[in-house]
Amino acid sequence: MPEPHTPRIACIGGGNMASALLGGLLQQGVSPEQLTVVEPFEAARAALQARHGIHAVPDALAVAATLAHADLVLWAVKPQVFREAAAPVAPHVGAALHLSVAAGIPTDSIARWLGTRRIVRAMPNTPALIGQGISGLFACPEVADADKALIERVMGTTGEFLWLAGEEQLDAVTALSGSGPAYVFFFLETMTQAGQAMGLAPDQAYRLALATFRGATELAIRSGEAPAVLRQRVTSKGGTTHAAITCLQEARVAEHFITALQAAQARARELAAEFGA
Ligand SMILES: NC(=O)c1ccc[n+]([C@@H]2O[C@H](COP(=O)([O-])OP(=O)(O)OC[C@H]3O[C@@H](n4cnc5c(N)ncnc54)[C@H](OP(=O)(O)O)[C@@H]3O)[C@@H](O)[C@H]2O)c1
Repeated sequence: MPEPHTPRIACIGGGNMASALLGGLLQQGVSPEQLTVVEPFEAARAALQARHGIHAVPDALAVAATLAHADLVLWAVKPQVFREAAAPVAPHVGAALHLSVAAGIPTDSIARWLGTRRIVRAMPNTPALIGQGISGLFACPEVADADKALIERVMGTTGEFLWLAGEEQLDAVTALSGSGPAYVFFFLETMTQAGQAMGLAPDQAYRLALATFRGATELAIRSGEAPAVLRQRVTSKGGTTHAAITCLQEARVAEHFITALQAAQARARELAAEFGA
């Protein structure tokens, strides 16, 4: 069977998310020679070299000829610098497919800055850094099925993914799974504090909280049952869990939690307006 075409990939930005994506691609058998990375910060370039053996350059102009042959351009820059980073790259990459992981920057803005609509946006989360993330993906109508297959290959290296029908849903993904690891850390912190307040040593309390999260999540995955069913099964009337859940319900914690996620969604929309202009 003929070898599938090995895509030439350029990555603009060489920070955390770039490192996760590029590291995953190398593990899949993509060679460092297929990759071109632009990263202005010296320490980040050194980290990519040390960690993955990838040579990054500080300036897009230095690799203009290589950029012109890129099949895929990954945009792994902070939203506030996307526009500035796009300016020197745009004239050289007309034919490429573009994948942006920049939070909040709409495809309309990216299309304006790059002069193409072959754009996919991804909203990953930090567990992507250890290959256990989940990303929401949105493709412009101009993106072909073969392009989507390439995107899936790239994002698959960071964990799970799902395609969204509407771009505005990315703000909900940002609020739920994008910011989600922070909610989990918040609960871990709070459960650990509670354990300490009830007389456990800090390391014991943290270990109990951490293993409970991991075990309960794994149980939910393996059982395939709805979380409400799993919760009711461990909540016998008059028991200890019932006492705790009743307290949470009386304090309307679920309602507050939904309001908190809606605040994150609203902030994602604001950022899009701020940096996408
Ligand atoms: N980390 C995550 O888990 C995560 C999750 C969801 C979404 N995201 C999104 O992914 C994007 C990247 O995040 P990150 O965590 O990888 O950020 P990061 O580690 O700060 O990486 C961004 C990199 O882009 C570089 N850069 C700045 N200006 C540039 C330019 N003009 N040309 C080329 N590169 C430039 C930065 O260099 P300097 O340090 O010199 O500025 C930095 O190393 C962000 O938009 C973020 O919102 C990240």
